[in-house]
Amino acid sequence: MSGVSRLRAVVKGVGSALPKRCVTNKELESTVDTSDEWIVQRTGIRQRYIAGDDETTSTLGIAAARVALDRAGLTPDDIDLVVCATSTPDYTFPSTATMIQAGLGITKGVAFDLQAVCAGFVFAVTTAEKFLASGSHKRALVIGAETFSRILDWEDRTTCVLFGDGAGAIVLEAQDQSELAQPEQGQGDNLPRGLLASCLRSDGKHRAKLFVDGGPSTTKTVGFLRMEGKEVFKFAVGQVTDVMAETFAACGITAKDLDWFVPHQANRRIIDASAQKFGIPPEKVVTTVQDHGNTSAASIPLALAVACEDGRIKPGDLVMIEAIGGGFTWGAAILRW
Ligand code: UT7
Repeated sequence: MSGVSRLRAVVKGVGSALPKRCVTNKELESTVDTSDEWIVQRTGIRQRYIAGDDETTSTLGIAAARVALDRAGLTPDDIDLVVCATSTPDYTFPSTATMIQAGLGITKGVAFDLQAVCAGFVFAVTTAEKFLASGSHKRALVIGAETFSRILDWEDRTTCVLFGDGAGAIVLEAQDQSELAQPEQGQGDNLPRGLLASCLRSDGKHRAKLFVDGGPSTTKTVGFLRMEGKEVFKFAVGQVTDVMAETFAACGITAKDLDWFVPHQANRRIIDASAQKFGIPPEKVVTTVQDHGNTSAASIPLALAVACEDGRIKPGDLVMIEAIGGGFTWGAAILRW
């Protein structure tokens, strides 16, 4: 749990990038034993983007980062921390973060990957905040970038229709917000800007429910994603809301104070059930799963970018992000935009 601090990680800009090729459910019907009706009914997904040979996790990450920097009115030179959340790196090493760093021409500071599967972006934002709040770094580029299409078994209809590729990025800046009320003292409008609280959890005993069946140290292959969908679903709607409750408590607010709920975009039914548990009305929930499919660590920053671009998320808004991923790993965070 992150607590009170003078320096806060304040959002300066958000950006996203998608592969050129959009694949609709209808198009999938020609290669996979599935139907548009089944996919929409069970997941809400209508289309996803699939990376071509010339598109990788790092190229998508670089493109998203450029947009975020532009929107922040900053240049790569202003960045001294790059954290990339991904489970589909370009290479086993070097990290995708260092490839993004080099692609942007950043030569100072530090860049590293963080792996918490679909919860990766929440983990990465929380990690970057620790650097910024400590005063050790000034501006962070936090990226969620994935090419899950590369680890899908296209013969397995229970998984291959669910995922897509893409990247989202956010620029965070360390700002002194100490003159404002701290989370414990204020409600809603009185809260300072920046990341106010977060709660991360993991429990490795659930490994077999969602994993990739390959890796350098075991099979020496990349492997394919395997998932017991029903089990993941049950856990996602049944238990992960614990981190939401803890994060609300740490901020001293309730779900009523939220302006926007931006959860991981895996399944429309999971999103709706999580929101309903806290009485968050549908009009405050940002949902992009219909357009992107499940893009793992990229899903939240992609959704944030959409909601910033269309004018829904505005400076001063209280935004909760929340996700669950393989491991299991799960987490939530509240930011005042
Ligand atoms: O990012 C974090 C991790 N991922 C998730 O959060 C995903 C969590 N799980 C889910 O979203 C859902 O469990 C799924 C969407 C994966 C599946 O939905 P479900 O309602 O749990 O369906 P099911 O697995 O119980 O399958 C129902 C039926 C089965 O047929 P029978 O056995 O009832 O005859 C499947 O064979 O649907 C069949 N089916 C399909 N049919 C058409 C499974 N996949 C497909 C498909 N097209 N693609």
